[in-house]
Amino acid sequence: MTAPASKPAAVKPLRVLAVASEVYPLIKTGGLADVVGALPGALAAQKIKVTTLVPGYPAIMQALQRPRAVHVFEDLFGAPARLLSAKAGGLDLLVIDAAHLYNRPGNPYNAPHGGEWGDNAQRFAALGMIGAMVGRGIGKVAAFDLVHAHDWHAGLTPAYMRFGPPGAPPCVFTIHNLAFQGKFPLELAPRLGLPPEAVSIDGVEYYGTLGFLKAGLQCADWVTTVSPSYAAEIRMADHGMGLDGLLRHREATVTGILNGIDDDVWNPETDEMIPMRYTAQSVAKRAENKRALQERLGLEPDPEALVFGAVSRLTWQKGFDLLLGAMPKLLAQGAQLAMLGGGDPEIENGFRRAAAFNPGRVGVTIGYDESLAHLVQAGSDAIVLPSRFEPCGLTQLCALRYGALPLVAHVGGLADTVIDANEAALSMGAGTGFIFSPVTVQMLEAAIERCARLWQDKANWRKVQANALSSDVSWRRPAAQYAALFRRLTAA
Ligand code: ADP
Ligand code: GLC
Repeated sequence: MTAPASKPAAVKPLRVLAVASEVYPLIKTGGLADVVGALPGALAAQKIKVTTLVPGYPAIMQALQRPRAVHVFEDLFGAPARLLSAKAGGLDLLVIDAAHLYNRPGNPYNAPHGGEWGDNAQRFAALGMIGAMVGRGIGKVAAFDLVHAHDWHAGLTPAYMRFGPPGAPPCVFTIHNLAFQGKFPLELAPRLGLPPEAVSIDGVEYYGTLGFLKAGLQCADWVTTVSPSYAAEIRMADHGMGLDGLLRHREATVTGILNGIDDDVWNPETDEMIPMRYTAQSVAKRAENKRALQERLGLEPDPEALVFGAVSRLTWQKGFDLLLGAMPKLLAQGAQLAMLGGGDPEIENGFRRAAAFNPGRVGVTIGYDESLAHLVQAGSDAIVLPSRFEPCGLTQLCALRYGALPLVAHVGGLADTVIDANEAALSMGAGTGFIFSPVTVQMLEAAIERCARLWQDKANWRKVQANALSSDVSWRRPAAQYAALFRRLTAA
C-alpha cells in the first residue's frame, strides 16, 4: 500500500517593503532601476507582495494613479511632507511627497549642468528614515514582514531600523555598485536624527565620514549583491573599494544573487521598438534589424560585416577606453561598431573622433535612448562590455536574449552569465559568447579576433547564437533565491 501523497506545505504570503531611489519605468539612471522595477513582478510568483518606497521626483509624481495620503510628516528636514500610496507603471508604490527635497529638474542626484545637490544627505536620509518607519508600520500602512533596501541611497534604512525602537522586521540590503558610497560629513548625523550610539564604527561612521553604503552593510541582517562572483571579489582589496574589511567580517551573511531581465520588456518576439520581430526559430530575420541599425547609425549596409554593438554608461567602470585602444584591431577584422552611450566627456569624444575618422565603419550616438538600445541589441552580431568591474551587468543578459553574442571581461556578473566559446566549449557544442582576462587592450583585441574567426565559421556561430538564445536570463531563478532568503529571515 502506498502512503497517501502528503500535501505540499502552503507557503506563507509575505509583504516586503522595497526602498530605492530608482524604479523602471518611472525613473532610471542605470540597472538599479531595472532591478527594482522587475523584482515585484518576479516575486509575486513566489507569493511575495512587494510595495516600493521611492522619493517623489517629478517623473514619479506625474505618473501616480489615484494617489492617497496615508501619513503626514510635520517636519521632514525643514518642511512638511506626505506619504502617498498609489499605483504607477504596474507597481504598488509608497511615495514621499516632499517638494522641498525632490521636486527638482535633472536626474535624481545632480543639478542640471551642475554637481550633486548640496543637500543629498538630507534627501536620502529622508528616504532611509521613512523606509525604517514604514517597515514598522505607520499611519494607515501596516507593518511589513521584511524590508529590502537598495544601494547607498537607501543605506540608512537598516541603520534607522537597528538604532530605532525594538521590533523592526528583518532587513536585507542589496549592493548594486560599491563604487557609489554616499559619503557625507559626520557632523550631519545628529541633524539627520541618528542617535549618538549610531555614530560609531558599528554604525554609520566610515573613516571619519558618515557613510550611507557602509551603514547599510553594517546594519542590515543580510547583505546581498547582484552576482556570486562580485560577492567574492568585493571581499578583496582590489575590488572592495575600502569596504573589503567589513565585507570579510560579514562574510557569512553576504551572498550573491544574479540579476535577471524583465523578459516582457526584453522580448525579441514582441518588441515594438525593433522593425523586425523574431524568435530563436526565426533568427535569420535579425538581418532586417541589422540593416536598420546600420542605416540608423550611418554604417555601410553590409550584411557580411561583423557588427559589434555597445549600450552603456561611458565611465571608467565600463572600460570603453580600452575599446578605443582596440579600434584598429576591430576595424582590421572588417568589422563595424554601433555605439550608444554617454558619460565621461573624454570617452565620448574618443568615440566621436573614431566615427569621424571611419565613416561608414563606426557609428556613434552619444546620449540615452531606450528604443535605440533595443535596436542595437536586435541588430548587432555581438555586444561588447569590457568592464573593469561589473556587479552584474544587464546588457549582456539582453544580448543573450536577443541572440547578439556578448564579448565581455571576466569580472563579476559578466563571468557568471556568459560561457566562453573556446575550443573546448565548441567541441562540446557549448559557449554563449567571448570572455577575456586580464582586462587589457591586448586581451580585448584577442577576444575580438576570436569573435571574428567564429563569424567566418557560420555553422559554429549559429550554434553559439542558439545557445545564447536558449540561456535563461529571466528572473525565475533569482526570484526563487530572494524568496528563499526572505522566508529564512522572516522565519528566524
Ligand atoms: P549600470 O547600471 O552599471 O549602468 P547595467 O548593465 O546594470 O549597468 O544596466 C544598464 C541599463 O541601462 C540597461 O538597461 C541598459 O540597457 C541601459 N542603458 C545604459 N546606457 C544606455 C543608453 N545610452 N541608452 C539607453 N539605455 C541605456
Ligand atoms: C549597478 C551595476 C550593474 C548592475 C546594476 C543592477 O549599476 O553597475 O552591474 O547590473 O547595478 O544591479
